[in-house]
Amino acid sequence: MLNTIERMIISVDEIGQRVRELGAQISADYRAGAGRDPHRRPLLVVGLLKGAMPFMADLIRAMDIPLEYDFMAVSSYRNGTSPGEVRILKDLDCAIGRRDLLIVEDIVDTGRTLHRILKGLSAREPATLRVCTLLDKPHRREVEVPVDYVGFVLPENLFVVGYGLDYAELYRNLPFIGVLKRREA
Ligand code: PRP
Repeated sequence: MLNTIERMIISVDEIGQRVRELGAQISADYRAGAGRDPHRRPLLVVGLLKGAMPFMADLIRAMDIPLEYDFMAVSSYRNGTSPGEVRILKDLDCAIGRRDLLIVEDIVDTGRTLHRILKGLSAREPATLRVCTLLDKPHRREVEVPVDYVGFVLPENLFVVGYGLDYAELYRNLPFIGVLKRREA
Protein backbone atom coordinates (compact mmCIF):
# COMPACT_ATOMS: atom_id res chain seq x y z
CA MET A 1 0.00 0.00 0.00
CA LEU A 2 2.77 2.45 0.91
CA ASN A 3 4.44 2.34 -2.51
CA THR A 4 1.43 4.01 -4.13
CA ILE A 5 1.97 7.19 -2.11
CA GLU A 6 3.83 9.83 -4.14
CA ARG A 7 4.89 11.87 -1.16
CA MET A 8 4.06 12.60 2.43
CA ILE A 9 2.87 16.18 2.98
CA ILE A 10 2.04 16.14 6.71
CA SER A 11 4.04 13.85 8.97
CA VAL A 12 2.98 11.91 12.04
CA ASP A 13 4.88 14.37 14.24
CA GLU A 14 3.34 17.42 12.56
CA ILE A 15 -0.14 15.97 12.97
CA GLY A 16 0.53 15.12 16.62
CA GLN A 17 1.87 18.60 17.39
CA ARG A 18 -1.05 20.37 15.69
CA VAL A 19 -3.64 18.11 17.36
CA ARG A 20 -2.12 18.92 20.76
CA GLU A 21 -2.29 22.63 19.95
CA LEU A 22 -5.89 22.41 18.82
CA GLY A 23 -6.85 20.37 21.88
CA ALA A 24 -5.32 22.95 24.20
CA GLN A 25 -6.91 25.88 22.36
CA ILE A 26 -10.37 24.30 22.23
CA SER A 27 -10.17 23.30 25.90
CA ALA A 28 -9.25 26.84 26.91
CA ASP A 29 -12.05 28.33 24.83
CA TYR A 30 -14.75 26.06 26.26
CA ARG A 31 -13.39 26.34 29.79
CA ALA A 32 -13.81 30.10 29.50
CA GLY A 33 -17.35 29.67 28.15
CA ALA A 34 -18.35 27.20 30.86
CA GLY A 35 -17.10 29.62 33.49
CA ARG A 36 -19.84 32.01 32.53
CA ASP A 37 -22.55 29.35 33.05
CA PRO A 38 -21.72 26.76 35.74
CA HIS A 39 -24.96 24.84 35.01
CA ARG A 40 -24.13 24.23 31.35
CA ARG A 41 -23.86 20.56 30.33
CA PRO A 42 -20.55 19.14 29.07
CA LEU A 43 -19.43 19.84 25.53
CA LEU A 44 -20.75 17.36 22.97
CA VAL A 45 -18.12 16.54 20.33
CA VAL A 46 -19.69 15.23 17.12
CA GLY A 47 -17.54 13.34 14.62
CA LEU A 48 -18.62 12.94 11.00
CA LEU A 49 -18.04 9.36 9.85
CA LYS A 50 -16.04 7.92 8.46
CA GLY A 51 -13.17 10.27 7.78
CA ALA A 52 -13.10 12.13 11.08
CA MET A 53 -12.60 9.04 13.24
CA PRO A 54 -8.77 8.98 13.66
CA PHE A 55 -8.55 12.78 14.08
CA MET A 56 -11.38 12.85 16.58
CA ALA A 57 -9.90 9.97 18.59
CA ASP A 58 -6.66 11.93 19.00
CA LEU A 59 -8.29 15.34 19.43
CA ILE A 60 -10.55 14.35 22.33
CA ARG A 61 -7.54 12.87 24.14
CA ALA A 62 -5.74 16.20 23.71
CA MET A 63 -8.66 18.00 25.39
CA ASP A 64 -8.73 18.26 29.16
CA ILE A 65 -12.31 19.39 29.75
CA PRO A 66 -15.41 17.29 30.49
CA LEU A 67 -16.97 16.16 27.22
CA GLU A 68 -19.26 13.61 25.64
CA TYR A 69 -18.99 12.41 22.07
CA ASP A 70 -21.24 11.03 19.37
CA PHE A 71 -21.11 10.46 15.62
CA MET A 72 -23.12 11.33 12.54
CA ALA A 73 -22.87 9.63 9.16
CA VAL A 74 -23.72 11.32 5.89
CA SER A 75 -23.66 10.29 2.26
CA SER A 76 -22.84 12.55 -0.68
CA TYR A 77 -24.03 12.06 -4.24
CA ARG A 78 -21.41 14.06 -6.09
CA ASN A 79 -21.88 12.47 -9.54
CA GLY A 80 -25.57 11.68 -9.49
CA THR A 81 -28.50 13.61 -10.85
CA SER A 82 -28.45 15.90 -7.80
CA PRO A 83 -24.79 16.84 -7.37
CA GLY A 84 -24.00 18.02 -3.92
CA GLU A 85 -27.00 16.37 -2.27
CA VAL A 86 -26.09 15.24 1.24
CA ARG A 87 -28.25 12.79 3.18
CA ILE A 88 -27.98 11.98 6.87
CA LEU A 89 -27.53 8.22 7.36
CA LYS A 90 -26.92 8.26 11.12
CA ASP A 91 -28.16 11.00 13.37
CA LEU A 92 -27.18 11.90 16.92
CA ASP A 93 -28.45 9.73 19.73
CA CYS A 94 -29.37 12.58 22.08
CA ALA A 95 -31.16 15.92 22.12
CA ILE A 96 -28.87 18.94 21.67
CA GLY A 97 -31.06 21.89 22.66
CA ARG A 98 -29.08 24.44 24.74
CA ARG A 99 -25.92 22.33 24.53
CA ASP A 100 -22.46 23.25 23.25
CA LEU A 101 -21.61 21.29 20.09
CA LEU A 102 -18.27 20.91 18.36
CA ILE A 103 -18.42 19.28 14.92
CA VAL A 104 -15.21 17.44 13.97
CA GLU A 105 -14.36 16.90 10.29
CA ASP A 106 -11.31 15.48 8.55
CA ILE A 107 -11.57 17.88 5.60
CA VAL A 108 -13.75 20.73 4.37
CA ASP A 109 -13.73 20.87 0.58
CA THR A 110 -16.78 22.32 -1.24
CA GLY A 111 -18.42 22.91 2.13
CA ARG A 112 -21.61 21.13 1.07
CA THR A 113 -21.42 18.37 3.68
CA LEU A 114 -20.83 20.80 6.51
CA HIS A 115 -23.49 23.20 5.26
CA ARG A 116 -26.11 20.44 5.35
CA ILE A 117 -25.03 19.28 8.79
CA LEU A 118 -24.94 22.78 10.28
CA LYS A 119 -28.33 23.66 8.84
CA GLY A 120 -29.94 20.59 10.41
CA LEU A 121 -28.23 20.98 13.77
CA SER A 122 -28.88 24.73 14.02
CA ALA A 123 -32.62 24.08 13.75
CA ARG A 124 -32.40 22.12 17.02
CA GLU A 125 -31.15 25.26 18.76
CA PRO A 126 -27.89 24.24 20.47
CA ALA A 127 -26.35 26.88 22.75
CA THR A 128 -23.26 27.03 20.53
CA LEU A 129 -22.22 25.25 17.35
CA ARG A 130 -18.58 25.28 16.28
CA VAL A 131 -16.53 23.36 13.73
CA CYS A 132 -13.05 21.88 13.89
CA THR A 133 -11.45 20.39 10.79
CA LEU A 134 -8.04 18.84 10.41
CA LEU A 135 -7.70 19.97 6.79
CA ASP A 136 -9.22 22.88 4.89
CA LYS A 137 -9.35 23.56 1.16
CA PRO A 138 -10.77 27.11 1.15
CA HIS A 139 -10.10 27.63 -2.56
CA ARG A 140 -12.51 24.78 -3.35
CA ARG A 141 -15.45 26.24 -1.47
CA GLU A 142 -18.84 26.27 -3.23
CA VAL A 143 -20.88 27.04 -0.11
CA GLU A 144 -19.68 29.38 2.61
CA VAL A 145 -19.41 27.62 5.96
CA PRO A 146 -18.03 28.84 9.28
CA VAL A 147 -14.93 26.91 10.39
CA ASP A 148 -13.67 27.81 13.86
CA TYR A 149 -10.60 25.57 14.21
CA VAL A 150 -8.37 24.44 11.34
CA GLY A 151 -5.42 22.07 11.61
CA PHE A 152 -3.81 22.68 8.22
CA VAL A 153 -4.80 24.65 5.11
CA LEU A 154 -3.95 22.78 1.93
CA PRO A 155 -2.51 25.35 -0.50
CA GLU A 156 -3.05 23.43 -3.72
CA ASN A 157 -5.77 21.20 -5.04
CA LEU A 158 -4.05 18.04 -3.87
CA PHE A 159 -5.87 14.71 -3.56
CA VAL A 160 -4.78 13.65 -0.12
CA VAL A 161 -5.21 10.40 1.77
CA GLY A 162 -4.38 9.05 5.19
CA TYR A 163 -5.32 9.69 8.82
CA GLY A 164 -8.98 9.03 7.98
CA LEU A 165 -9.02 10.26 4.39
CA ASP A 166 -9.60 7.61 1.77
CA TYR A 167 -9.30 6.72 -1.88
CA ALA A 168 -11.87 4.00 -2.66
CA GLU A 169 -12.07 3.33 1.11
CA LEU A 170 -8.34 2.55 1.35
CA TYR A 171 -5.51 4.50 3.03
CA ARG A 172 -7.61 5.71 5.98
CA ASN A 173 -5.22 3.90 8.35
CA LEU A 174 -2.06 5.70 7.20
CA PRO A 175 -0.70 7.61 10.21
CA PHE A 176 0.33 10.58 8.01
CA ILE A 177 -1.25 12.65 5.22
CA GLY A 178 0.07 11.84 1.75
CA VAL A 179 -0.57 12.42 -1.93
CA LEU A 180 -1.27 9.46 -4.20
CA LYS A 181 0.81 8.72 -7.27
CA ARG A 182 -0.86 10.11 -10.40
CA ARG A 183 -1.93 6.71 -11.79
CA GLU A 184 -3.79 6.03 -8.54
CA ALA A 185 -5.52 9.36 -8.09
C1 PRP B 1 -15.51 13.74 2.95
C2 PRP B 1 -15.06 14.42 4.23
C3 PRP B 1 -16.11 15.48 4.44
C4 PRP B 1 -16.56 15.82 3.03
C5 PRP B 1 -15.97 17.12 2.62
O1 PRP B 1 -16.45 12.80 3.27
O2 PRP B 1 -15.01 13.52 5.30
O3 PRP B 1 -17.21 14.99 5.19
O4 PRP B 1 -16.07 14.78 2.18
O5 PRP B 1 -16.35 17.43 1.33
P1 PRP B 1 -17.28 18.66 0.98
O6 PRP B 1 -16.80 19.83 1.76
O7 PRP B 1 -17.06 18.82 -0.52
O8 PRP B 1 -18.70 18.29 1.29
P2 PRP B 1 -16.88 11.59 2.31
O9 PRP B 1 -18.24 11.90 1.70
O10 PRP B 1 -15.78 11.28 1.34
O11 PRP B 1 -17.10 10.41 3.33
P3 PRP B 1 -16.08 9.76 4.39
O12 PRP B 1 -15.96 10.74 5.56
O13 PRP B 1 -16.78 8.50 4.79
O14 PRP B 1 -14.76 9.52 3.71
